[in-house]
Amino acid sequence: MNHTMLSNTVVKELTETASAMVAKGKGILAADESDPTIKKRFDSIGVDSTPYNRRDYRELLFTTPDLEKYISGVILFDETLRQSGKNGVPLAEVLSQKGIIPGIKVDKGLTNIPGTREEKVTQGLDNLGDRLEEYKSLGARFAKWRAVIKIGNHQPSRLCLDINAHTLARYAAVCQQAGLVPIVEPEILINGPHDIATSRTITEWTLSKVFSELSRHRVLIEGMILKPSMVTSGDEHTDQADIATVAETTVKAFKRTVPAALPGIAFLSGGQSSELATQHLNAMNKIDGLPWELSFSFGRALQEKALQAWKGKPENAKDAQDVLFHRAQCNGAARFGEYTRHMENQLK
Ligand code: 13P
Repeated sequence: MNHTMLSNTVVKELTETASAMVAKGKGILAADESDPTIKKRFDSIGVDSTPYNRRDYRELLFTTPDLEKYISGVILFDETLRQSGKNGVPLAEVLSQKGIIPGIKVDKGLTNIPGTREEKVTQGLDNLGDRLEEYKSLGARFAKWRAVIKIGNHQPSRLCLDINAHTLARYAAVCQQAGLVPIVEPEILINGPHDIATSRTITEWTLSKVFSELSRHRVLIEGMILKPSMVTSGDEHTDQADIATVAETTVKAFKRTVPAALPGIAFLSGGQSSELATQHLNAMNKIDGLPWELSFSFGRALQEKALQAWKGKPENAKDAQDVLFHRAQCNGAARFGEYTRHMENQLK
């Protein structure tokens, strides 16, 4: 009964693209910061957030030599998908020429849910089908939509989870109809004093609702990617769970709630340090018998150090690319559970 509206050709295309996005040893670079977010990142290095600077920075990232060894896809922001590099080649094409799949963030940010204490729902369903047609013509082969769940006193509310699960499933169904692989991202924020057990409970509750809605909307599970948070202690909790506990707890929560038909889970980094995100991914991939690929779709944990190395100066471009390549390589090793701390000292 599932996905009866999709032709065999579309099913094949979605399934193949989703599998390629979580190819072994590789992961996704999230470079889809919205204008306010990239401004915050540029402020940290004293660079003005102009279209030209944003173009230069993202072109630098995408033209990193051999990036395709460890990066399967890149998530772009609307502006970037419309920009060309200095040689006039569209940035999406720069990526596809290297064998990296271009994708696009399609949500339009958050708004408060009336009747809740400032819980959020994600906007952007109106005209989504038309926008996706254009994005596809510009070279995008997958999309991303981020929902945000905050853990707090009696939060998340049932309403918040219901509305976000429903919206994520609507988005995913519209994407597949347009022939784009949806990345379904229910981000559970790391912020707060909660312990890891609370994080696990909320993760299981959220994911069971999300997959129930995806099934109700007849989303082809083989043709999508899940982008969740890892199950960790809240960042203000006094006794932080160790790496092995995070890995075991995360895998346990996902085994309980995520169908084995899903090709892969590509974690967000969510404010963890670059090294810790890699260590967690590595520890999870050491666990036997995983039914899905466990991969990464990191923004900050891939870019933070490269951004600091660049500082907006063209003469630093090569150093910044070396730093990005090195982080991608570390995470590539973590995909096999083969990352070691020793690799941190092997930056070119
Ligand atoms: P972080 O890895 O920095 O959390 O970003 C990933 C992302 O795409 C959030 O939507």
